[in-house]
Amino acid sequence: MSGKKVFVVDAGGRGNAIAHAFAKSSSVETVFISPGNAGSEMIEKCRMATVDGKPPKTISEMLAFAKHELIDLTFIGPEGYLSEGIVNVFQEEGQRILGPRKEAAILENSKCTTKDLLKSLNVPVPPCKNFDDPALAREYAHQFCSDNPGQGLVIKADGLAAGKGSVVCSTEEEALSTIERIMVSPKLFGQAGERIEIEKRLEGRELMFFALSDGRTVQPLESALDYKQAFSTDEAVAVRLFNKLSNNPNLENNPNTGGMGGFSPHPWLDEELTQKIMNEIAMPTVRGFHEATGHEYVGVIYFGLMISEEKEPSVLEINVRLGDPETQVILPRLETDFFQLSEALLDRKLDSVPLQWSSDYCLGICATSGRAIKPHSSGGGGERPGYPGEHYTNMPITGLEKVDPDVLVYHNGTAFGQDATDKRRLFTTGGRVLTLVARGRCLAEARIKAYDNIKRIRFNGMRYRKDIGQGYL
Ligand code: GLY
Repeated sequence: MSGKKVFVVDAGGRGNAIAHAFAKSSSVETVFISPGNAGSEMIEKCRMATVDGKPPKTISEMLAFAKHELIDLTFIGPEGYLSEGIVNVFQEEGQRILGPRKEAAILENSKCTTKDLLKSLNVPVPPCKNFDDPALAREYAHQFCSDNPGQGLVIKADGLAAGKGSVVCSTEEEALSTIERIMVSPKLFGQAGERIEIEKRLEGRELMFFALSDGRTVQPLESALDYKQAFSTDEAVAVRLFNKLSNNPNLENNPNTGGMGGFSPHPWLDEELTQKIMNEIAMPTVRGFHEATGHEYVGVIYFGLMISEEKEPSVLEINVRLGDPETQVILPRLETDFFQLSEALLDRKLDSVPLQWSSDYCLGICATSGRAIKPHSSGGGGERPGYPGEHYTNMPITGLEKVDPDVLVYHNGTAFGQDATDKRRLFTTGGRVLTLVARGRCLAEARIKAYDNIKRIRFNGMRYRKDIGQGYL
């Protein structure tokens, strides 16, 4: 088998890492990526997908591209296209495409439906209730807070909200204001917030658990410890400044992000806990979903879990995709051929492909567009707090050529453009700009290499957490 063409649909660092995993397969000749970014073409065998010089963006443009290029396998990264039904459209046209169909993508697309399903399957979830009437939601929140003083609540928009639809509330006042802002005015998440789920805030440790499903067999992937908060615990001054510049009245709030970095293997997800999650959560969810709906779940399934002190897991949310930046530190450790693994998933033969992993550690640091004043040479501009708040883009990036050849740089938000002297240069285009990933035989080795290399990259406002891996060495 040789010369296969793969099409990866993803815009970020996760897409770079997925494309890289495919490119390592001896079966694969070319990996096309769309919409991609400047990093997409820096990976061996990888090219940007284009139609008439532009990246295909709509489902029909992508389908036309896949047919024209005689793509052998398409892999979908983000939840949006899956919820819109890209897999259904491609399959109806005879294309081999990996990811859950629209009917199965509901597991991420509707938090309320998913929690109801999980409850009916006896899969552990926090105590929770759904509402489409704000008055009833307020009444419930009021009653909950009166009955459980000091106990926090989590209020979640039902639909997709770009990872921002979950709000932790410590007081009744916060809960009532959140209900108002999501359901009534200003409708923070639009239609996605017409229905909400209110759940009890559980204590414990959060864990991201990834698995593959071909509809019949479910296999766990290795996991990663991720760093969600924008700042480390010793950056109190930076947190306050961020909130001041963001006009946020709570100056001590360390904001959540899509992820600031991480490392794999996970430091406390052991074999016993993995088996427990597989037996009590992953397999019952996939099988129960099939029995309840008649639809098979094929693709990656990602459980956001809370693990109690007694090591009992509860499902906070399900995602129908890989995580970003978790993928960037997990997939480089996969030794199983990713193309053959994807083929096995599509052919319902996952049970015939054992997953093999390197014992190496991978540690990833996300370089983000932090607090900055736009330089005079780029038109000038006021001070912005930086990602995850308002941030500048279009900043020239330098130093990538100084990074060691065995260190990976997966791009999140970058593009090539011309500078004032018409020179082709790399620019930032987003809040998360790139994820630098180093590997080592132990975590300390990976960590030293990652921090040594990230210092060689520069752009105006560049900021990253300095504590990834710290405390686990
Ligand atoms: N890193 C979290 C996510 O991808 O949802």
